[in-house]
Amino acid sequence: MHSENREEVLFRDIVDLESTTYVTHGLYGYPAKFIPHVVRYAIENYTQEGDWIFDPFSGHGTVGIEATLTGRNAILWDLNPITKVLALASTYKGNIDPADFELDWDYKKPFHPNWERIDYWYPEEFYKVLSKAWGYWHYEIFQNASESEKVIAYIIAIPLLKVTRYFSFSDEKISKLYKSKYAIQKVEQLMKNNWFQKMEEMYWRNVYTVLKKLREYREYGPKDVELEIFTSEKRGNKLVVCDSLNQSLHREVKLLITSPPYLQSQEYIRSFKLELAWLGYSGQDIRTLTRHEIPYNKIKPVKINSDTFYALREKVVNLRHPKLLHLYDTYFRSLVQFFNTNHSKIEIIAIFVGPAKIRHLRIPIDEILKEHLESLGFSHEKTLVDTIVARRMFSTKFNPATGLEDERTPTEHLLIMRR
Ligand SMILES: C[S@@+](CC[C@H](N)C(=O)[O-])C[C@H]1O[C@@H](n2cnc3c(N)ncnc32)[C@H](O)[C@@H]1O
Repeated sequence: MHSENREEVLFRDIVDLESTTYVTHGLYGYPAKFIPHVVRYAIENYTQEGDWIFDPFSGHGTVGIEATLTGRNAILWDLNPITKVLALASTYKGNIDPADFELDWDYKKPFHPNWERIDYWYPEEFYKVLSKAWGYWHYEIFQNASESEKVIAYIIAIPLLKVTRYFSFSDEKISKLYKSKYAIQKVEQLMKNNWFQKMEEMYWRNVYTVLKKLREYREYGPKDVELEIFTSEKRGNKLVVCDSLNQSLHREVKLLITSPPYLQSQEYIRSFKLELAWLGYSGQDIRTLTRHEIPYNKIKPVKINSDTFYALREKVVNLRHPKLLHLYDTYFRSLVQFFNTNHSKIEIIAIFVGPAKIRHLRIPIDEILKEHLESLGFSHEKTLVDTIVARRMFSTKFNPATGLEDERTPTEHLLIMRR
């Protein structure tokens, strides 16, 4: 089944970047972010300065940062409204001072998230102070900002979001929103003494981290390029949804570089509920967004031109688990629909996917997409196989229960297709 043109690599070795979180990468936690090395590799090998690159599932905005540093224009889409905050904040080239981050923690007009579950996540005392700080952010910073000043408001939101998350019953060690025993103990501990002082101190520590990262970014000399960022967003009272399955590119691009949602993906919108609620998204908005998230979305059947897809589907059918089958179908239909709509505007496609399994079945996402893209007129350039995950998980290479080698150690793949 596996074609030639496969190379084993370690992206961290073949691309020379300081670290995976250099400059503004990792400004805020984002699950399954791809490392900048992968993006840099694709940019350097397949594009020239001034070209347009595109990421339809852009998450934290890794592609935006790498595009600006290498002089490429970029189009970024994502369902998650937080992408706009992060992608704009992480590519900000202007000046910003510590003084810009001053908040009134006792602001007269508190902001109350319009989400019925908010009480569940905070003890009353913390909620009271946070709602005043967020009142100040919404009514004094965000609402007064012109379109071009909004980026400043987004940058200020980052340390505030970090504190808002830490001082909640959510377990910050788990990216999913989850009230764990540990998190409850953490809050109890915080309540014991001087919690407000700690809250303020933590805010300012995070402010200085953000400032340091922005300075590093400026020192790397980002170029003057165009960034078109389209994410779900509140415009006035209306929620505008960015579902990449329903959008068409309005210009030709040289390279698509993306890491799409995984098969049994993180539920991104669910993970970011607290952040979204404080940024002004209602419970209803959050439910609407959730319904668009791959692979939990609704989608009509589309033809998938891949024998591998159907061969594996048989096996998934044999699991006799309708929900898993539904997930499998929805996942591939979604990606295929996106490519059917947009492929004609793209010259090179680079897709980064991690290991995926349904029960014991390994699902070669890249192989299935490769076959479908071939039917759309693309040819396989190569697949780079990064063995880092396998190395990290070295201890699980042998199943401790059976002493047998696992059927395959996981790897991450960068599939490259050319028109
Ligand atoms: C693996 S993450 C991408 C991470 C990104 N490469 C980075 O470095 O941060 C997949 C993204 O797909 C987005 N997503 C899921 N369903 C979507 C849809 N229907 N339309 C647009 N984006 C979607 C999620 O919000 C998530 O940010």
